[in-house]
Amino acid sequence: MFDKNFNPFARQMEERRKRIAENLSKIRFKIAVMSGKGGVGKTTVAVNLAAVLAQNGSVGLMDADIDCPNVNRFLGINERLSMQGEKTIVPIEKFGLKVVSMASLQETEDTPIMWRGPLIANTFAQFLENTKWGELEYLVFDAPPGTSDILLNLMQDTEITGILIVSTPQEVSIVDAKKTLNMAKQLNVRVLGIVENMSGEIFGSGAVEETAKRLGITFLGRIFLDKKIVHISGKGKIPALEDKKIRKGFEGIAENLIAQL
Ligand SMILES: Nc1ncnc2c1ncn2[C@@H]1O[C@H](COP(=O)(O)OP(=O)(O)O)[C@@H](O)[C@H]1O
Ligand SMILES: [Mg+2]
Repeated sequence: MFDKNFNPFARQMEERRKRIAENLSKIRFKIAVMSGKGGVGKTTVAVNLAAVLAQNGSVGLMDADIDCPNVNRFLGINERLSMQGEKTIVPIEKFGLKVVSMASLQETEDTPIMWRGPLIANTFAQFLENTKWGELEYLVFDAPPGTSDILLNLMQDTEITGILIVSTPQEVSIVDAKKTLNMAKQLNVRVLGIVENMSGEIFGSGAVEETAKRLGITFLGRIFLDKKIVHISGKGKIPALEDKKIRKGFEGIAENLIAQL
């Protein structure tokens, strides 16, 4: 009889999950920075938060955006990843962070990666299985937008401690943030809290905090829409390490996040 639950790959996937868990076993907290919507500041929050966390502990930063990886540009990393033996990937160290990004395997930064979902998922799984992180206090994942593919892998295969949601105060961003929230609920993944990014005159201020209150999730803090973030990002410098006011914002978020852990 036809069994709709039969999955010929189930055992392979189970074995892979075990190898991933084994490889990530010396990492204390795994935090994924997510939002359904693109362009709201996931990479900005992931990079600046990682840099602030690294002031007090060992931190890894994994670019989980396989087809449009941006972490290297934000950190000014131009090196290619080196391998130990055939499989083991050695992270690149910068600003005290251990960094792995698909960008470090690309020929040129503007080469498009035009892969179907399964190949992207497989590449991501190989990074998870084979990266030599060593002992870490935190591993921060910079997630791509959306609610499928890698987001599912992140929530289901990596035993993450929880997710941090980023939203701007705009309604369209908040709606997509709620999708991420509901996805986490359905998959029994902890929501550590939500950050309001690009807060200020243009998009308004406070809507994300109100939403957090209404939905009973932790509001971790806000980062203002700030010209300095635009000018510093993408030039190989980290705003939180360059500007006192920006650092304060991210330190507040880090403190509230740690309180959740
Ligand atoms: N608080 C902010 N103030 C000003 N510009 C910001 C802020 N947060 C993000 N940006 C800028 O907005 C753009 C999109 O941010 P990014 O972090 O790449 O978003 P995502 O990863 O969600 O796609 C980037 O150019 C970034 O420098
Ligand atoms: Mg991004």
